Amino acid sequence: MKILGIEHIAIAVESLEKGSIFWKDIMGLEFKKQEDVPNQEVITDIYNIKNSKIELIKQKSPHSPISKFLEKNGPGIHHICFAIENIEEAIIELKSQGIKIIGNRPSVGAEGYKIIFLHPSSTGGVLVELSQKT
Ligand code: CO
Repeated sequence: MKILGIEHIAIAVESLEKGSIFWKDIMGLEFKKQEDVPNQEVITDIYNIKNSKIELIKQKSPHSPISKFLEKNGPGIHHICFAIENIEEAIIELKSQGIKIIGNRPSVGAEGYKIIFLHPSSTGGVLVELSQKT
């Protein structure tokens, strides 16, 4: 698998407004845009960092994976996303190595990228997202 960089780090928040106080006002990150990601039931505020991004993610409904995460862990780092060259190839490679993948095929994430998540039980406790720019 060819990793091109860290695409973003996603942080689960209870409120995007509260999150912006630290990340925008104090850390000085440049706000890029807000995005509704319907198939993940989340809304995300995306901030630019050179060659990467911070995504604050908030649940849109109680069925969102973020709701369960916040209930269990409270706000904090939710996942790390790597930009990769070819997601289909990566899935085949990872499966052949016994890595547990969430879902069977890539779905559409923020900014229309093809994404897939690797289960934390296969990664030493980190929810890992792989994404390919389309
Ligand atoms: Co993500």
